[in-house]
Amino acid sequence: MNLYYTEEQLAVQEAARDFAQNVLKAGVIDRDRDMTYPTDEVKQMAEMGFLGMMVSPDYGGGGMDTISYVLALEELSKIDNSCSVIMSVNNSLVCWGLETYGNEEQKKKYLSKLATGEWLGAFCLSEPEAGSDATSQRTVAVDKGDHYILNGTKNWITNGGKSNVHLVMAQTDATKGHKGINTFIVESAWDGVSLGAKEDKLGIRSSDTHTIMYTDVIVPKENMIHEDGFGFTFAMKTLDGGRIGIAAQALGIHAGAYELAVAYAKEREAFGKPIFKHQSVSNKIAKMATDLEASRLLVHRAAWLKDQGKPYANAAAMAKYFAAESAMKHAVEAVQVHGGYGYVKEYHVERLMRDAKITQIYEGTSEIQLLVIARNILKGQLHEPMYSLSQ
Ligand code: CAA
Repeated sequence: MNLYYTEEQLAVQEAARDFAQNVLKAGVIDRDRDMTYPTDEVKQMAEMGFLGMMVSPDYGGGGMDTISYVLALEELSKIDNSCSVIMSVNNSLVCWGLETYGNEEQKKKYLSKLATGEWLGAFCLSEPEAGSDATSQRTVAVDKGDHYILNGTKNWITNGGKSNVHLVMAQTDATKGHKGINTFIVESAWDGVSLGAKEDKLGIRSSDTHTIMYTDVIVPKENMIHEDGFGFTFAMKTLDGGRIGIAAQALGIHAGAYELAVAYAKEREAFGKPIFKHQSVSNKIAKMATDLEASRLLVHRAAWLKDQGKPYANAAAMAKYFAAESAMKHAVEAVQVHGGYGYVKEYHVERLMRDAKITQIYEGTSEIQLLVIARNILKGQLHEPMYSLSQ
């Protein structure tokens, strides 16, 4: 694995850092407090090519690699995790799934709009009674010849009320268990698609999270992605890449909290010297820095494996598990370093602490990542260890 970034990757990182620091930061506290969707900011992200970074230029995307993608996500996530999850879901879950498994007509009709950010997408797997246990889908799509009739409810859907296109997993034959699940492209404007209340969340408060109801929605046959019965595998394979995105988000939260803690500890004095010079504080910061590097290596290794076309499901699960746990732990410590100031919104670090929590939950909880890793160990299906990778 090459630990040096290319000029293109560094340029993407710098553009994302400038955008986060100079555009996103100004209104982030207000948007978080008021749950205001970042409409203008998402438009600018689209103009910068951040909503379809890895999609082929043939469909209007940036044609970039996964390393560039995680570098950009890390920078955005230091400041605004509502924007970074909007970007992650559209890129990893919606565009990647469509580009990898969709047919040419579907790509021309939908992917080209999603990759440019003209449209936004949502990934609709979770249900009121199917979160971690994702095979227990209750949403059904009944075959009516040239179309399906879709009925069901999807929960906690990121971009729910703002998306034009939903990728919806549904049972077409419950007798086949998870092999009876399929994925459908559903347009939010179609009859029978309706929204539940917008969620009032602990963190990522300005991202738009909704329950979505599908009532007798007519879905044309040509809107089924992939061959019959592949829907659960589609969801799992798509989430493998999604988990790299969320791991990068967690990495960015950790990095943002760390940078704030270092700056504050150098400036704030107590007992006659900067608090950085008190070992109780410097130990916290040294641990933050060490875990941050470990997270970054895991996230970048998963991204690199994906770029090399090597298996990456396990690397993604490890990266997400470690980065999310570290982000949560060290964001709490960064608040502690700030003392009373850490507890007020103006100092940004309490928001990062609240945002960190969701990275342990969405796109597979930390417990699910451990389950995935443990099963891979039992099956002897781990990715290659780092020392045996040749580049
Ligand atoms: N790639 C390919 N196939 C996979 C796979 C993968 N990564 N993981 C599982 N499968 C296959 C299995 O091989 C199996 O196939 P066979 O029956 O043919 O052997 C099939 O899928 C079922 O797998 P399991 O037997 O392991 O099923 P399980 O029910 O025991 O466990 C699970 C499955 C890993 C727990 C899975 O349900 C899971 O990942 N749950 C978490 C769901 C999740 O991440 N939700 C996120 C919601 S989206 C979101 O959060 C987006 C957002 O808005 C931010």
